[in-house]
Amino acid sequence: MIEVESLTKVYPGGVQAVREIDFTVEPGEVFALLGPNGAGKSTTIGMLTTTVEPTSGRARLAGYDVATEPLAARGVSSVVFQESVVDRSLTGRRNLELHARLWGTRSARIDEHAGVLGIADLLDRPVETYSGGQRRRLEIARALVSEPRVLFLDEPTVGLDPLIRYELLDVLAGLRDRGDLTLLLTTHYLDEAERLCDRVAIMHLGEIVALDTPAGLRAELGDELVELRVDGSGDDALATLQERGMAGTDAFVVGSTLTLPVSANGVDAPAEIRKLDLPVASLTTRRPTLDDVYLRLTGGRLAEAA
Ligand SMILES: Nc1ncnc2c1ncn2[C@@H]1O[C@H](COP(=O)(O)OP(=O)(O)O)[C@@H](O)[C@H]1O
Ligand SMILES: [Mg+2]
Repeated sequence: MIEVESLTKVYPGGVQAVREIDFTVEPGEVFALLGPNGAGKSTTIGMLTTTVEPTSGRARLAGYDVATEPLAARGVSSVVFQESVVDRSLTGRRNLELHARLWGTRSARIDEHAGVLGIADLLDRPVETYSGGQRRRLEIARALVSEPRVLFLDEPTVGLDPLIRYELLDVLAGLRDRGDLTLLLTTHYLDEAERLCDRVAIMHLGEIVALDTPAGLRAELGDELVELRVDGSGDDALATLQERGMAGTDAFVVGSTLTLPVSANGVDAPAEIRKLDLPVASLTTRRPTLDDVYLRLTGGRLAEAA
């Protein structure tokens, strides 16, 4: 449904926002671009929705090339931007009706879309009376009015408080379960990618540095990690562990925290580490998260779950 080949964007002034990325998304799949601010997520969505002109490479939606067949590509897709696009002085219903007229689609399904998004009861109130989460749902309902085959969501839950964010995730999961829609969303929240997505592309400085299912990404780090915090330099501690053959190339350090994937070879790694003369501040074991995957690949941290 989405095919991206060597897609690249260099903005005027020379910023290389997206660098030769490749991925495909299957019909009905939920796919995330995960990365911190500035990674190139919005630029990628911009190119896929024809608002940003690619510098080179290709992208197709349902077979339509975004550069050479932009109208057809836009016709099969819809986008929910970070900024609000609904008219606050009008009711929710009026917003949806206007959008349906613009697209020449049937208004008959407005109540159905509102129902799926859980805002049926609010439709006849002015949007200015909606909460932030309700307005975001209306934006998504609006995007569905054109009956897209691909829905793009750019940071759909950013700025929402945690409870509302989780409710919205459930709504998005409901869309996923309908099965006839392909979803591509961007996020810098790991838990969102983890809960919602079939596959995740981790973006860093315009490149895709890893692409797999959430479980597949985590599997690279094995079943268990040892997390060691020291008083002092994590790098020195890592050097000590490496000298003794207790840390491999998959270990990584951020400040005074060292993370070591441990293989299931029966060795009690924490006990072995305690035998060494290291300034241990804390020593725990836990299961790998996508945050660890991201950290190992990029040396940076993603946003913690709200
Ligand atoms: N219109 C623009 N002109 C110049 N640089 C831009 C423009 N939009 C984004 N950028 C730059 O491109 C990079 C990627 O930005 P963006 O795609 O917005 O990342 P993300 O959505 O992951 O935060 C950043 O360095 C950003 O400053
Ligand atoms: Mg963005």
